[in-house]
Amino acid sequence: MVNVVLKEGINWVGAVDWNIRDFHGYTTNRGTTYNAYLIQDEKTALIDTVKCSFADTLIENVEELIGFDKIDYIIINHVEMDHSGSIPQIAKLAKNAKIFASERGKDALIEHYGHDFEKVETVKTGDELKLGKRTLRFIETPMLHWPDSMFTYMVEDKILFSNDAFGEHFASSERFDDEVDQERLWEEVTTYYANILMLLAPLITRKIQEVVQMGIPIEIIAPDHGVIWRKDPSKIINAYLQWSAGTAKPRAIIVFDTMWGSTDAMARAIEEGIASQGVEARLFKLRNRENTDIVTEILEAKAVIVGSPTLNNQMFPTLGGFLTYITGLKPKGKLWGFFGSYGWGGGAVKGMVEMAKKAGFEVYEPGIEAKYVPDQEDLKKCFDFGQQIAQKIKV
Ligand code: FEO
Repeated sequence: MVNVVLKEGINWVGAVDWNIRDFHGYTTNRGTTYNAYLIQDEKTALIDTVKCSFADTLIENVEELIGFDKIDYIIINHVEMDHSGSIPQIAKLAKNAKIFASERGKDALIEHYGHDFEKVETVKTGDELKLGKRTLRFIETPMLHWPDSMFTYMVEDKILFSNDAFGEHFASSERFDDEVDQERLWEEVTTYYANILMLLAPLITRKIQEVVQMGIPIEIIAPDHGVIWRKDPSKIINAYLQWSAGTAKPRAIIVFDTMWGSTDAMARAIEEGIASQGVEARLFKLRNRENTDIVTEILEAKAVIVGSPTLNNQMFPTLGGFLTYITGLKPKGKLWGFFGSYGWGGGAVKGMVEMAKKAGFEVYEPGIEAKYVPDQEDLKKCFDFGQQIAQKIKV
């Protein structure tokens, strides 16, 4: 293993998953990492573990530094299996170690791995664990990403072990933010926030404000996915604050699918209407792009315009999947428009509008429908629809 040192006595001991492309449905175009950290002081602590299939890597990395019998404490910041999957194996090896988790973390460990984990000790916000010269302080962060989640802050070294927060799915040879290509890094940071944390925007704002009010200085943010932020941790914190405040650009995202080209033609006419107002439009055919990437585009757009042909009196199945995903993520403060084609009965636009309204989205009505193949009059309506939405989102 390359020796990755955050500060003297504090090592990254995680694993890089170069090959994963589907992380429970999230398309991970650049793989990911499962970060774990070993802190050696008078007492030795392991912070988090890794996905089960990478247990051997974690074991090898730790054993290059210290024997498992010398580990005194294991901190489980979050029980989702990409972080806790190897804990049954690690707990057997580190037989002298006490395990710490939040109260809901302990419950989740028992639910996942059985009653051996009844012995886990629970911690809450403000509790501290002395390692010698160093101190670990716990900060509960419920719903970032699960109810059990927490941060662990290393007081003397000013390191925030933030688990899922401030992470990204990005496999790289380098471990620190200042060592990797910035454009690729920020693409993945944005994708991660949009697809995992967008739903949690109000909580993120509150939790960051709470941590700021605690007055704890942060020199390094060490998340459990992707790079360690050491150059300027405030950059990622500020990006989270902006996204969670709903900051967006005057830009429209058009998402559609098509059967015989009619909805496609409508989408292009809408795009021309938007562009005619000097507003940027980006157009995505669902069958050509992953939901993960489209959601990332939506994060910073003020309007989303969605089109579907009618199939069996309903929206096209790809739109059903997309709308289920995006209504679950509940992006805030966007204007939504809907359009589509049909042959006889229709139903796609009505169904999409109903889904959007049920999710509390602001819908620009009425939507646009065209029968069979849009004629010039239909396309003019689409152009005008695009123009109207552009005018609404212009600065
Ligand atoms: Fe990376 Fe919520 O687990």
